[in-house]
Formats: sequence, structure tokens, C-alpha cells
Amino acid sequence: MGLLDGKVVIVTGAGRGIGRGEALECAAQGASVVVAEFDPDAGEGVAKEIVDAGGAAVAVSGDVAEAATADSLVATAVEQFGRLDALVNNAGILRDRTVAKLSEDDWDAVVRVHLRGHFLPTRAAIRHWREAKTPGHLVHTASTSGILGNFGQTNYGAAKAGIAAFSTIVAMEGARAGITSNAIAPTALTRMTLDLMPQEFRDARDEALERGEFDFFAPENVAPLVAYLCSDESSHISGKVFGVQGDSVEIYQPFTSVAEIRGDGRRWDPSVLAGRVDELFTESGIVPGAENMMAKSRHQILR
Ligand SMILES: NC(=O)c1ccc[n+]([C@@H]2O[C@H](COP(=O)([O-])OP(=O)(O)OC[C@H]3O[C@@H](n4cnc5c(N)ncnc54)[C@H](O)[C@@H]3O)[C@@H](O)[C@H]2O)c1
Repeated sequence: MGLLDGKVVIVTGAGRGIGRGEALECAAQGASVVVAEFDPDAGEGVAKEIVDAGGAAVAVSGDVAEAATADSLVATAVEQFGRLDALVNNAGILRDRTVAKLSEDDWDAVVRVHLRGHFLPTRAAIRHWREAKTPGHLVHTASTSGILGNFGQTNYGAAKAGIAAFSTIVAMEGARAGITSNAIAPTALTRMTLDLMPQEFRDARDEALERGEFDFFAPENVAPLVAYLCSDESSHISGKVFGVQGDSVEIYQPFTSVAEIRGDGRRWDPSVLAGRVDELFTESGIVPGAENMMAKSRHQILR
């Protein structure tokens, strides 16, 4: 018995990395899987892995930021497996540059793949669930780069923060129909992140693996949480953002107001405001200048 017996799940960007792990885990939990992937060889390879292991899978190649591809994923799930229960939006790319050096193409490409690539499959799935009058589960892929910020990733971080907001709003919109929507902020070593890690970190990891220790940064470690969020066991959870890496699962608090100053019932005068804004920092303990929140959480990411 698996958590997803009889269920049908679409995973985008499932040809490698985190998405591959999610597709394999959903299949291991009993789901039939639509493996959506830009690179046809990679997608078909993962579908074959699932089928060879006794599961059910079909690969669909294409760009998930195109409506025709997004719609065809849902159509394939219904035609091949008779239903759709969950969609995991995972496909993504990086084009890192500081904002002064960032080209318009690199801005557009990243925002497009992540935001359109989440919006269009989600819309197709929700339209299907509304028509079929069935509930469904959505899992979106945000990032600590969007939640905490990360140097050199304005395009990627903006898109990932947008995905967290997108997920929260979809959760509100879907609640009455029993549609859940949650986001994850994963960390794993994949083609996307391996080159970003310092050599000494990679050496330390290789040595730990040689000693037979748990591979904290294996992309497959992200998948159990995602399989759970695709299952009816998590039907009471929606609109949340989870951190996931290694054996760690975290929950992020949404942006929330923590301090306030009030005027005297009229619009503020800027010069009066200038003398009062620091009260917000004193009251909340928030540092006024730019902070590297990612660096503050490094102990979790590189532990
Ligand atoms: N690896 C990490 O530490 C990390 C951290 C935070 C967020 N993420 C996010 O996790 C997701 C997976 O990343 P990964 O590390 O496994 O990367 P990866 O590069 O190993 O895999 C991404 C897959 O998505 C596919 N893809 C890209 N654009 C596509 C498109 N338009 N249509 C269909 N498929 C497409 C790629 O071909 C690739 O197979 C991404 O959204 C990424 O931003 C990863």
C-alpha cells in the first residue's frame, strides 16, 4: 500500500534532479505519473525507469511555459490514466547575474519559465478539477532565494517569491473546491546547483559519501514531502511554504506586519515621518540596512 495508490500525478521538469526524484517517489507510492520534461531523452528515461520498476508512467516533452504543452499534460493524464489527482510544478532554470549586468533576455527567460511555467499547468489542472468536480493537490517549487533573497539572483528570486505568492492565492481560490496548493523551498545538489558550491564543500560531501554517510544533499530527499503533499493525507494543509532538504522539513512564516507607527489621523508629513520610522526598527528588532538572510541560514543549508 502506498500513499498514492490509484492516483495520477503530473511532475514538470521530471527528467532530472529534484523532479526526477519526485516522479520516482510518486510512482513508488502507487501513482501513475506524467513525466513532463523539456528534454525528451531525459523525460523518456525517467518514464522508462518507472515502468521498468513495475510502475506506470508516460513522458510528455515540451516547454511547460507554453499553454499547448500545459494543457496537453492534463489531457494526457486523463486519456492515459483516466484522472488527475495532483500536479507538481518543478521545472526551472537559472541565469544568475547581478542586476546591473542582467540582460533583458535573462530576466525574461527566468521569469517566464518559473511564473508562466507554474501558472499554465496550474490553470489547466484547476480547470479540469472544476469541470470534473473533483478535488486535487498542487505543489509548487519556490526557493530560499525568493523567500530570503540571494546575491546575484534578482530574476530567479523575484520569480520564486512570486511562486510563493501565487501558491498562497491559488490556495484561497481553490479551498471551496477541495483543491490544496502548497509551495516547497528545496535544497539539493543537482545540475542546477553543483557548480555554485565551493570545491571544499564538494570534497567534504564526496568523503562523507565514501564513508557511507547519509547524502544530505541528494535531490531524492525532497520527494517524500512532495508525495505526501500530493496525497489525500495532506488535504487539511494548504497555502503553506515548506523548506525541505536532507532529513529536514521546515515551515516558513508568511510575511507579516510586526510593528506599526500611527500619525495623528492625517497623512504623514515626510519630515515628521523621518523622525519616527526608526521606531519600527527599535520595536521589531529588524535591522534597517540590507541583510543577507540566506547567509544567516547557511548553517542549515551547508551543515
Ligand atoms: N537544487 C536546488 O538546491 C534548488 C533550490 C531551490 C529551488 N530549486 C528549484 O527546484 C526545481 C528543480 O531544480 P533542479 O535543481 O532539480 O534542476 P535541474 O536543472 O536538475 O532540473 C530541472 C529540470 O527542469 C527541466 N526544465 C527546465 N525548463 C523547462 C521547461 N520550460 N519545460 C519543461 N521542463 C523544463 C530541465 O530540462 C531539467 O530536466 C527548479 O524549479 C529549481 O528552481 C532547486
